[in-house]
Amino acid sequence: MASYKAFYIQPNDDGSFKRSIVQRDTSDLPPNEVLIKVQYSSLNFKDAMSAHGNKGVTREFPHQGGIDAAGEVEESSSGEFKPGDRVIVTGYDLGMNTAGGLAQYIRVPAAWVLHCPRGLNPKRSMLFGTAGLTAQLCINKLQRMGVTPEKGEILVTGATGGVGSIAVALLANAGYTVVASSGKAEQADMLKSIGASSVIDRAEFGEFNKRPMLKARFAGAVDVVGGDTLGNVIKSLKAGGSVACCGLVQSPSFEATVLPFILRGVNLLGVDSVEIPLVRKTGGLEAIGTRRQTARD
Ligand SMILES: NC(=O)c1ccc[n+]([C@@H]2O[C@H](COP(=O)([O-])OP(=O)(O)OC[C@H]3O[C@@H](n4cnc5c(N)ncnc54)[C@H](OP(=O)(O)O)[C@@H]3O)[C@@H](O)[C@H]2O)c1
Repeated sequence: MASYKAFYIQPNDDGSFKRSIVQRDTSDLPPNEVLIKVQYSSLNFKDAMSAHGNKGVTREFPHQGGIDAAGEVEESSSGEFKPGDRVIVTGYDLGMNTAGGLAQYIRVPAAWVLHCPRGLNPKRSMLFGTAGLTAQLCINKLQRMGVTPEKGEILVTGATGGVGSIAVALLANAGYTVVASSGKAEQADMLKSIGASSVIDRAEFGEFNKRPMLKARFAGAVDVVGGDTLGNVIKSLKAGGSVACCGLVQSPSFEATVLPFILRGVNLLGVDSVEIPLVRKTGGLEAIGTRRQTARD
């Protein structure tokens, strides 16, 4: 048993939530196979939802937040892991209804844990975090649909956010021409410094447009925004183009017609980083770890 510090979300009597650092004990953790001493975690959109009491993310409070973590195995009853192994956990139920990674310890099922792949140590893996894994999974899916750099421009929405900014950097690193869509004009230079070729105002795609098709501009897109933005992105794909859809910051719903799908053969690709098999998470993280290093690294 060890005492440790954790980011803890507790309900107040008036229905609001209190967030604080508290002292907990490893005996408070669920009786899973692998006890991990957490060295690094990252902050994600879903962490904010949980920390604000969103019941779609976390049903039971009080709760130890944090949907990802990296560190060293301290105890393991699984033959897959031994004390001292450097490991990463992202997604599944971590930080949702299982005590999460914004803490010095987690105890999780062995089936959620992966060894740090080549090119990533615990710190570096959490610099990318779940956002980086999601960005890479979006790129993998676009590539599987034949979206290669010579096909044309790739749009990234929510470009200054966690997923968006890493998608901009990873796409540029892989040789794509990236158009970053952002609501923050003052961040345009930052977006160019991480690899965007140009930056557009998010308002350009943010409102419902009743035209069933728009000018065919993008070979592909990574969309974290959803809502009318996603509807407009679909209408703006070139023939055969694809959009990887992974988020809902504008809205989870959008209106669409079948026309871009049947007249331009475009593809709407769903991306989930949470429940996919561990081997695909490992593949995504390996791709990040072994990508071409640049001066920006
Ligand atoms: N599918 C998965 O497995 C998975 C994994 C991770 C995250 N996600 C989802 O991906 C989304 C983004 O996550 P994140 O961690 O990148 O969040 P984030 O860091 O908060 O970034 C979201 C970005 O979206 C833009 N934005 C914010 N409000 C907006 C609005 N009302 N309309 C249009 N754009 C808006 C902002 O960028 P600009 O100011 O630059 O426009 C903001 O930085 C979330 O919905 C999250 O739940 C999904």
